[in-house]
Amino acid sequence: MWRWIILLIVLSVAMGCQQQECKKPATGKPINPNGDSELALLMRDMFLESDSLKRLVEEGKQLSGLRKYQEIHSAIPTDSTVRGPVFDAFAQNYIASIKALEASDSASIFNFNHMVDQCMNCHTEFCPGPKKRIKKLYIR
Ligand code: HEC
Repeated sequence: MWRWIILLIVLSVAMGCQQQECKKPATGKPINPNGDSELALLMRDMFLESDSLKRLVEEGKQLSGLRKYQEIHSAIPTDSTVRGPVFDAFAQNYIASIKALEASDSASIFNFNHMVDQCMNCHTEFCPGPKKRIKKLYIR
């Protein structure tokens, strides 16, 4: 019995360290049959959407009807310890930055880059792995 408890403690400490890089849970078992969490799938969407927004902003197009991604708050992550008030605060900032981008008169490079900042901020805290990819979204 104690052996299991100690093993559990060791495992959760190990997972706590891995969380930084957004690894899969230590059991190696994927949460969904396809191996991707709800949050990971949502993030992939967000990445593609931001990439197409980037092109529109570069062309100076007026933006409207942007997705607000409220689902960030409820999507189940690979690592359940990610969820909490800190995560929600970062998610709020990100959603606010989309609204600001949409509210700007013409597509604003400043507001777009500010949105990418919000991706980067949350990733610095919870998931540095994809930061290199996200950084490429910035408009120079
Ligand atoms: C509120 C925090 C937060 C914000 C904001 C955020 N992310 Fe994430 N992101 C995460 C977490 C946590 C994961 C790990 C998801 C998982 O594995 O369950 C992740 C995963 C990812 C992944 C990897 C998905 C995969 O294939 O496994 C990419 C790419 C990504 N995010 C891009 C972005 C982009 C682009 C933005 C901004 C448009 C963004 N993220 C904003 C927290 C955030």
